[in-house]
Amino acid sequence: MKTLSELLAQYHQTGDCLIGFNFNDVWDVQAICQAAQERNQPVMLMAYTKVVEVLGLDLIQAIVERMKARYSVPIYLHLDHCDDVEMCMQAVDVGFDSVMIDGSALPLEENIERTIKVVNYAHAKGAVVEAEIGKIRGRGMTDDDYLASVADVKRLAEETGVDMIAVGIGTAHGHYQGKPEINFERLQQIHQSVSTPLVLHGGTGIPEEDIRHSMTFGITKINVGTAIHTAYMQNLGKQITKDGIDAYPPTTISEILPQVKNEVVKYFEMVNPSQVV
Ligand code: 13P
Repeated sequence: MKTLSELLAQYHQTGDCLIGFNFNDVWDVQAICQAAQERNQPVMLMAYTKVVEVLGLDLIQAIVERMKARYSVPIYLHLDHCDDVEMCMQAVDVGFDSVMIDGSALPLEENIERTIKVVNYAHAKGAVVEAEIGKIRGRGMTDDDYLASVADVKRLAEETGVDMIAVGIGTAHGHYQGKPEINFERLQQIHQSVSTPLVLHGGTGIPEEDIRHSMTFGITKINVGTAIHTAYMQNLGKQITKDGIDAYPPTTISEILPQVKNEVVKYFEMVNPSQVV
């Protein structure tokens, strides 16, 4: 099986794209893995730090380790949006394949400094690192000042040797009001000035044509979270109401997991890599 860094290098060359899905528990992680298996596509399972606070890095790693053994498609585990260098190092220590050190709220110098610390540590242990420049809109972020500067991305790439860079180009976490406004011109400029694979955040609700367009400008990973947990929570709420007093986790949750899996499949179909596993 390819390591994550080999897969990213290949996809960056072929113009294909890996999808990272945020997961929250042992149930939705199964729906995501089943969808990956059905589509015969590699997948990244991403844990937000909020999930780490609840479950712990070690339990998350153990769950995903068993998932890797159950499915034949490549599955990679990633720590998403972590601004804590220590936590990134601990994730690497317990066996995460990839960590995101998110220094996007910091001045560039400090962002670079933190990213270097994590890159040195992770690379020595064979793990991959994602950093961020610019800001992903939504979830309380102001709309000002989100756009990644080409010069900043270039400096971050050159000075840190980071493996992937998330770029603020207008996408937002959460549900979009209307159509997302993606600055493709800026994405193209960034792509022309660095050879690092780029990451598109806020994947929920981005139309297929925009996803495919962004893939022509170096987007090698796209992150999707809200669509999956919304499908999970909304359908579960309805099922609990339907089952009433007889609602019981193994049956009630299992009943709605195919709907969660179908939502995941939709994103796999949009990206549809030219070379599957
Ligand atoms: P959405 O929740 O908007 O799909 O974004 C996910 C994401 O970018 C995680 O890093």
